[in-house]
Order: sequence, then structure tokens, then C-alpha cells
Amino acid sequence: VWPHRLGLVILAGARATFEPIDVEADTSLFLTAGAALSEISSDGLELVVRFTPVHEDGSTGAEQTVLTRHIEGFDAETPWVEIMLPLGSLVYGRGVVALECGPGPLGEPSADWLAIYEMVVGPAAQQSLHRARGHNERRYTADLARFEQRHDASVLDKNSDYAGSPLVAAGRPAFGLAAGPVTTLERQLARAVSVVELGNRALARGLQRNPPDFQQRLGARLAGLRTGSSDVTRKLRVLSLCSGVGRVERALLQGIWPEAVALTLWDRNADVAEVTASRLAAVCEEVTVVEDDVNHLDLQGERYDVILCASGLHHLVELEHVLSTVSDGLEADGEFWSIAEFVGRNGYRMWPGARAVANAFFADLPEAYRVSRVGGGAAELDEKLGDLDQSVQTLEGIRSQEIEGLLQQNFAVQDSQARSCFLWSLLEPAYVSNYDLHAQESIELIERAAALDVKYQLAGGRPGILNGVYRKSH
Ligand SMILES: C[S@@+](CC[C@H](N)C(=O)[O-])C[C@H]1O[C@@H](n2cnc3c(N)ncnc32)[C@H](O)[C@@H]1O
Repeated sequence: VWPHRLGLVILAGARATFEPIDVEADTSLFLTAGAALSEISSDGLELVVRFTPVHEDGSTGAEQTVLTRHIEGFDAETPWVEIMLPLGSLVYGRGVVALECGPGPLGEPSADWLAIYEMVVGPAAQQSLHRARGHNERRYTADLARFEQRHDASVLDKNSDYAGSPLVAAGRPAFGLAAGPVTTLERQLARAVSVVELGNRALARGLQRNPPDFQQRLGARLAGLRTGSSDVTRKLRVLSLCSGVGRVERALLQGIWPEAVALTLWDRNADVAEVTASRLAAVCEEVTVVEDDVNHLDLQGERYDVILCASGLHHLVELEHVLSTVSDGLEADGEFWSIAEFVGRNGYRMWPGARAVANAFFADLPEAYRVSRVGGGAAELDEKLGDLDQSVQTLEGIRSQEIEGLLQQNFAVQDSQARSCFLWSLLEPAYVSNYDLHAQESIELIERAAALDVKYQLAGGRPGILNGVYRKSH
């Protein structure tokens, strides 16, 4: 069942008109529309889009119908349709757009309520950005609530090791792969500290490609700042965006001299700032916490050796601005590290093909592995993996499917590994506690799922998790 969604409701026979707009050749109109009620008249309803030209002297021209779309009714699988209309190829110049609800082909209007959930007019190339900007405060509030629901209170506990992220292993970042291939299950198990890491290792082995070794890169950069045996010429300047409680940063800095790095952590969530600073004190002497929205990132001319973002880009709307600001904020030889980033389908979803393979695997799992537990709520037995578009209500995966392309546009790729077409979904926080690292059955299931995932990816499937190292492209 879908959660409630905010919409403009137009009843049969009514129309909504908007402020005049200027239509140019590349202007498109994007609409998300559906039936607002689960039961509408048996002949469905009609969404009609009309355009009335407005001349310079204020007079209006003949109204044109630019779209008529029949909507059968409300279906829980597809409760709305998305329509991209190339308006610039249909009409031109200044005019007024009107949306109308028609009663359907038999003229039966009862309960014909049309819901308009989204309407975006602008250059086609910017539609996804403008679309993502909608409902920002509502989405952010829901994002925070979802974060709290998915991760228990240990996230904000100064003394605990936050292990809640689905993308990064407990206590050690997912990128902390041992060098060289792991040949036996026992050796692999001895090194793995979490179920998620076990899965990550199996993926890397199958893909025959390790993610970048961020710890090693940090060590090499610090070594480059040393003169003689111990003196440090200057501190390495590191900025982390969407840093949460600094878990990844703490793992990275462990074992490195606390005075070697000047670390700036940037997160919008006021609750994490204080916790973060105290948790990092042991591994870094100079920690600055900035409590602000990364979407409006302004580095005020500061330069960094490393800027990193772990599992944060998929919450951002202003990706173009953020990535170009990051590029400008890097030293000439500086690097941007994208760590354990979700780059899959918008809304934190699997692509349909991957979902079909994952669901077939899931359906065959013993019941104990299909139990979901969300944020201390009651355990439920699932038939299928979830497919809700989280970006409808929250910022989760708001533009995730564009991240990889935008990284490539803004930077020169140094090293990257993209993996996990669906394993990330099978090992979601809701399911991960069903697996026991010390049980042969659990290990074998993870191995099998990972092998299936690798096979799917190697046959052209699109992966969902990215670890990459980038440099300025100019
Ligand atoms: C999935 S968590 C990742 C946290 C941490 N990097 C880690 O890997 O454990 C996403 C983090 O991004 C932060 N965040 C989301 N949107 C943000 C924004 N617009 N500006 C700054 N921080 C944001 C959230 O508060 C949260 O701490």
C-alpha cells in the first residue's frame, strides 16, 4: 500500500490554470498524475493539457490541446503515471498551461478525481534537477525520520560502533579489502567483520576487481608530506561531506598520527555534530564540524587535499553545483573519494531486471532469511523485496542514477569499482540480522547471492554501489 502523497486534485469538469510561461524549442512539461481515489467511474477519467497563447499586448490566441491521456483508475502496482511532453515541439512562445479532468469516454464523472503529484516546466536537460527540488523541506523531514527508523539509537551513542549502514561494514569500511585474493571460506571469514563485508568480498572476488584502497591512499599522501624521518611539513587537509557520525573517517584515520590531518566534517543533521567531534578526538587532533546543507556548498576559497563523501551523494539534489564546487576546492593534485555510494535506480530501488533475479532468489530462501525488522518494529515475513520509490517522500536516492555520469563529467576517474546490482537489497538493515557470520548456511547463501549478482553484472546489469577516486579534469 502506498503512503499518502501530496497532490493537486482536479475533479471531473474542473480545470487548473497556471501563471504564463515562455515555451522555447527545448521546453518540456513533466507531469506525474493518477487517480486520487482507488474507486473511480468505470470508464476512467481523462487528463487533458491545454495551452493558450498570450500575445505581447495581453490578448490571447486560440486554445490548443497538447495532450489527452486516459487514466483507468488506481492500481497499487502503478498508482501514477509519469508523462514527459516535449512542449516546445507542440507550441511556441508565451502562454498559459491548463490541466483539466475529463469524465472518460462514456461521460460518467462520478468519483473522477484526478491527482497531479508533480508538474515541472523547463528545459528538458534540467528536468530531473528541477523535479528533485520539489517538496524539499517535506522530503528532508521525512529523510531524517527514515534515517532514525532504519538505524537504531546506537548511531548517536558516543561509545558505540555505529554499524547501521547497509553499505559499509561494521567497524571497518567496506573498502578495507585485504590485498590479494581470498581463497578459502575460513580465511575470508576470519577477516570479515560483518555480513555486509562478507558479501562485498564475494563480489570483489567474482568481479576480479577490488575497490580503491582508501586507507592505503591516505597513508601514501601522508608519507608525501613528511620530510626526513618524522617531521610533517604541513597537515593533510581532508573534508568529508555528509559525514554522519564520522564512522568512515574514524576507520580511515585509525593508526595514523592524530596530528597529521586537519579534518572538516560537514553534515546537515545537528544531532550528529557533537557526537562526531567527540568520537574522532582520539584519532585526529584537529576536527572542525560544519552543520550545514551540502546542497549549498560554499568552500569560501578553501582548498583540500582530499574531499570525500561516504554514502551521501544519493541524498543530494544539487549534484551539479556540489561536484563542481568540490572540483574547485581540490588542490591541483587533490582527490575526491566517493565511498560506498548508492548509484542505483532513483528512489533506492533495483532496476526491474535485477529485481526479478533478486526476487527469485529471495523466494527460495528459508523463511528465517525473509524476516524483516525495521527500527525495532515487529518482525514480518516478506514475500518479495521492497520496491517503494523512496524519493517520492524522502531524499533517499533522489538523483542516485545520475551520480556516476555526473562524476565522470566533472572529474577524471583515477580508480573505481561499481558493484552490487541487488545484493545490497538482500542485505538491507531490515534483513541483515537474519544472517549469522558463524553459520555455514548463512555464508553459503551470501556466496550464492553474490555469485548470482556478479553473473548478472557481467552480463550487462547495472551496479548500484560505487567506490571511486577522482581528480580535477582540468
Ligand atoms: C547514509 S548517511 C552516511 C553517513 C556517513 N557518511 C556514513 O557513511 O556512515 C547520510 C548522511 O548524509 C547527511 N545528509 C543528508 N543530506 C544532507 C545535506 N543536504 N547536507 C548535509 N548532510 C546531509 C545525513 O544527515 C546523514 O548523516
